[in-house]
Amino acid sequence: MITSVKGTRDLLPPDTRVWNRVEAVAREVFALYGFDEIRTPVLESTELFVRSVGESTDIVHKEMYTFTDRGDRSVTLRPENTAGVARAYVEHAMAQAGRPWKLYYIGPQFRYERPQKGRYREFRQIGAEVLGAADAAADAELLVMLFDFLLRLGFTGVSVSLNSVGTEATRPAFVDAIRSFFSSNEKTLGDDDRRRLAENPLRVLDSKDPAVRQLVASPGFPKMVDLLPTLDPASDAHYRELKVLLVASNVPFKEDPLLVRGLDYYTRTVFEMTAEGLGAQNALLGGGRYDKLVSDLGGPKTPGIGFAIGEDRLIDVLPEAFRKVTIDDVRPVTLIPLDRNDVADALVLAKELRGAGFAVDVVTAAKGPGYGLKVAERSGAAVAILLGQKEREERTANLKDLAGRTQEVIPRAGLIEALRARL
Ligand code: HAM
Repeated sequence: MITSVKGTRDLLPPDTRVWNRVEAVAREVFALYGFDEIRTPVLESTELFVRSVGESTDIVHKEMYTFTDRGDRSVTLRPENTAGVARAYVEHAMAQAGRPWKLYYIGPQFRYERPQKGRYREFRQIGAEVLGAADAAADAELLVMLFDFLLRLGFTGVSVSLNSVGTEATRPAFVDAIRSFFSSNEKTLGDDDRRRLAENPLRVLDSKDPAVRQLVASPGFPKMVDLLPTLDPASDAHYRELKVLLVASNVPFKEDPLLVRGLDYYTRTVFEMTAEGLGAQNALLGGGRYDKLVSDLGGPKTPGIGFAIGEDRLIDVLPEAFRKVTIDDVRPVTLIPLDRNDVADALVLAKELRGAGFAVDVVTAAKGPGYGLKVAERSGAAVAILLGQKEREERTANLKDLAGRTQEVIPRAGLIEALRARL
């Protein structure tokens, strides 16, 4: 037996109904906020992620599916989608439109992580990016949209963790402060964290080592937000304005001065949301501002902000009511031809009912009423229609209500009306 590759999985019915419905709600909501879909390739040049996500991040350092193709180019299965969107923005000179772009995407991403519940090597993200909008109001609107989406899925009582990571103006001072904090504690650091401290001290905040996490959480650990008012008043003002706008928009948030996110391209605003049932290490979604990413990739100076929701995790913690309604939504009418001679009649009637908007399933193996009803019940049908010689000749249908367990012979002319009354 050949099985699926470790860390990948098949999504099967009826779960796929839930996936489709969640994606449909995302498309509906995002359209209401003026977003359009972008689809970028799953395969990108490796260089793109090295330059955007950053060489010292776990993603680039050890989680990418990178290989050399037959033309000797180093290519990578995208580990995230923001870099691809920014590349496309530059490649198609989208800045020339002279207005902000609001783009969303839904699709698979790949990271070579240790698989566990909620963590896969192939996973899917629902994300959105705004390119060309610098103001705090753009950050606020994006979060308003995110909460609107989550609310429509039935989530309540969720809140987002918020922080500002400043800009290059504050980065060197922050990095120095982290280095000097660890200078007396370097022995506590394992090999990975020592590498982080040397290459990019900000990444020490991603450490999963409990001893290091404890140090990072201690009161003496430097905080970027403390440096902002003196070193970068513009970023400080941006952060303060955002908080005012979020309060005014009823978006619940908690400030987390230790939140830095595991990707290098962020400037100013960063945010993340966790959910009960996912475990503290597994965020439901994350995002932030990246005002230098487009220019770092060779494009014009363009501010950007976005988020990505882990769709697998979202569906794991989806409110039960939404799941149930979605699964129960599709309840086909099942046509059961009793004999070979009744099959043509069933196919013609099926076409007619589908034309009237009913989902119709035909039990093509005409093996009698017992078998047909069993198939109908197992596939979740609400109504079964038995079609035999008698019904064909008398232009009737023998309608069985599977939930109510009633049976009625109805003239074909009144069948559509009778079904409408029941479904
Ligand atoms: P990220 O935090 O790396 O951000 O990923 C976003 C979300 O993707 C995570 O919160 C998580 O739900 C999901 N995710 C990540 N890795 C896995 C995995 N192995 N299995 C299942 N789900 C996973 C980004 O990707 C940024 N591009 C977000 C962004 C957009 N920032 C600005 N714009």
